[in-house]
Formats: sequence, C-alpha cells, structure tokens
Amino acid sequence: MADLIITIDGPAASGKSTVARLLAEKLDASFLDTGAMYRAVTLAAMQAGVDLNDELKLLDIARECEFQFSAGAGKTIICIDNVDVTERIREPEVTANARHIAGVPEVRDELVQMQRQFAADTQRVVTEGRDQGTVVFGDADVKFFLTAEAGERARRRQADLGGKDSNQSLEQIQRAIEERDKSDESRAVGPLKPADDAIVVDTTDLSIDEVVGKLLALVKERCLKSK
Ligand code: C5P
Repeated sequence: MADLIITIDGPAASGKSTVARLLAEKLDASFLDTGAMYRAVTLAAMQAGVDLNDELKLLDIARECEFQFSAGAGKTIICIDNVDVTERIREPEVTANARHIAGVPEVRDELVQMQRQFAADTQRVVTEGRDQGTVVFGDADVKFFLTAEAGERARRRQADLGGKDSNQSLEQIQRAIEERDKSDESRAVGPLKPADDAIVVDTTDLSIDEVVGKLLALVKERCLKSK
C-alpha cells in the first residue's frame, strides 16, 4: 500500500478534483479521480443500452468493460475499451445517471477494489470522491472534506462547462447539484459524509490556490515530518 494516502471527499462541484490534482503535483503523488470511474461505468451502461435499474447488468458492465485511467495535461484521461471518453463522461446526462451505478453495492465493491489496487501500486496518492475517507481508505494519513455553498458550486460548475451546455441556466445547474447531493447523502452504501477524523474545509470564499495551500500546510504539519 502507498506510504502516503490523502483523501478528499465532498459534494458535487466543491472543487475536489482540481484541488486533489494540484495537491498531488505538489506532493509528487498520483492522483485518483474516483468520480470518473463511476461516470465511466455509467457511460458504458448507457452505450450498451442497459436498463439502469438492472443491478446484475450494471455489475456485468463494471466487470467486463476495460477501463483505462491515465494522467493527462491537467486532467485524467479515461478510455473504455481503448476509446477516449474523457469529455463524454462529463455530459449532463451521464452526470445525472451516475446515481444508478453509485447505488449498487456490488458495483461499488468492484470499484473500491480497483481504487485500493491503484493505491497499492503507487507510493503516494491523493484520491477524491465521496467515500474515500469513510470506506475505501479508513487508515488514510490525512482526510479532508471540502464543502462550499450550493450557489457558489453552481457558479463553478457553470464556469467549468464553459458554455458547452448553454441550455442550462445557473438555477438549473444548482438544482441538479442539490439533487445529486441529496442522492449521494441518502445512499445506503458509501454515502457522502465526512469521516469522523476528516478535516472539514469550507471553500466558498477561497481561491483554488488558497485551498491547495491550506491543505498542503496541513499535510506537511501532520505527516510529512515523520515520512
Ligand atoms: O465527483 P463526480 O461528480 O465526478 O462523481 C460523479 C458521481 O459518482 C457522484 O455524484 C456520485 O454519485 C458517484 N461517486 C460515488 N463515489 C465516489 C465518487 C463518485 O458514489 N467515490
């Protein structure tokens, strides 16, 4: 297992991915975007025309498709059966449908195993998602939970989309984010919540650099001295 594991959990559009990627760069660590894994299984199921309520079929998809994750410039490149789907997994329909996949315990087990394998194959890892500190890496060295007000998260998501989905108003984006939070929080398996020993950071009024600086200082203070 990696000798430094940092987990970053939090609700949709709280800045986890960007912060986790930059923190990983500063720590010379690998970065794992677990949301991309749930999105990839979702897209694969949609492409196969599978009923998203059919848990057995969803498990087949998670087991049988070959998912490849690799570090690209500023983002994780995701391929399904060697086809690059990095952009497609961010489409609003995939985002909305991910809750079906995220709610199936056996699919989660499958992805959790892949996440632990990823950490076993690397020396340092910064991983982000919903259940990284609570379920996947209970013994992580430092656990963070990033939050931000829903209105601010909607503005960030709109900026991220960069006009790619201009049909959605800010209000619609905020509603979709709040619905996703509700579904992530109320799931029986791997629900969105801070681990008991997580450091909660409200990023509403902080820039990305400020958040990364704060997290880096905490990691150095808590564990790099002894590594
Ligand atoms: O973080 P991102 O928005 O890419 O995640 C997409 C969806 O995948 C989330 O809304 C959630 O339902 C699911 N997910 C999860 N557990 C994780 C990461 C993501 O259930 N560790």
